[in-house]
Amino acid sequence: VTGAGGGVGLACVRRFARTHSLVLAAPTRESLAQAEAVVVDQEASFTSVLCDVSNADAVAELARVAGEQGPLGALVHTAGLSRSMADGRHLLAVNLVGTALVVQAFLPLATRGSVAVCVSSIGAHRRAVEELDEMLLDPHEPGFASRLEARLPLRERAGLAYDLSKRGVIVLCEREARAWGSRGARIVSLSPGPIDTPMGHLEARRDAGGLERLAAFGRVASAAEVASAAALLCGPDASFVTGCDLRVDGGILAGIRYHAPPAVTAAWNSLRSEEPVEPA
Ligand SMILES: NC(=O)c1ccc[n+]([C@@H]2O[C@H](COP(=O)([O-])OP(=O)(O)OC[C@H]3O[C@@H](n4cnc5c(N)ncnc54)[C@H](O)[C@@H]3O)[C@@H](O)[C@H]2O)c1
Repeated sequence: VTGAGGGVGLACVRRFARTHSLVLAAPTRESLAQAEAVVVDQEASFTSVLCDVSNADAVAELARVAGEQGPLGALVHTAGLSRSMADGRHLLAVNLVGTALVVQAFLPLATRGSVAVCVSSIGAHRRAVEELDEMLLDPHEPGFASRLEARLPLRERAGLAYDLSKRGVIVLCEREARAWGSRGARIVSLSPGPIDTPMGHLEARRDAGGLERLAAFGRVASAAEVASAAALLCGPDASFVTGCDLRVDGGILAGIRYHAPPAVTAAWNSLRSEEPVEPA
């Protein structure tokens, strides 16, 4: 579990500790300690690795340690930043290039029955963002972020960079399905709407909340609900589910498409326009 000390990460640690021995990955000791406390509480076995997912060497070390623990059951990649946390360049480096590094490093560990689940976001499902897929095909390649920025000025547009980074996660999982499949393994993304986590609260303050009013249930997700969806995708009942994205948004996107005022739907379907963002 990457991002193991985050809101969704901790929920995944709690959920997967019931069934798996865990490799916990987080970028700080403090964050790792939070995840370790959860596993210790559940008396599950675990190994901890400090890992900044945007650092290729650190990701290679994470995969090496994971490979020593036995066959790969599940990779649950929750590490990420939201648009209030960093500028556009950093968001791409962590959310998309970092995901590409993790998926690439874990592929050699994949074996029959292994599953990778990468967390995307409903921001990736804005219609105008979906149309930019061809710009997002090569996050593994050197200079990817610079080439993208040459086409779209992203450094000052953290919201757009976030949406694109998460779109890139979906595209990556689609494209990697064949390679994972050749090993009898699966790879999928999941796209939550707002979640009751520190990141979710930070972004809700900024946007004055509201998206959840469009959900079928009129509320945000709990982190445990997102972890349950990840567990579902990792389980045998999802044996033919690969190369696709599961929306775990309580019906928000459906609400935006069919039940929101036309201005809200139109704004959602455009690229985010925004004032330059001061990173938190
Ligand atoms: N919270 C929401 O409302 C929401 C909505 C849609 C998607 N998501 C996505 O869900 C995932 C989990 O979010 P969360 O709500 O648990 O947020 P969170 O901030 O609680 O957790 C994210 C974790 O990622 C870790 N992280 C950040 N940068 C990292 C790096 N460079 N290397 C390794 N780890 C790093 C952080 O330490 C943190 O523990 C993220 O990918 C996020 O983009 C969240």
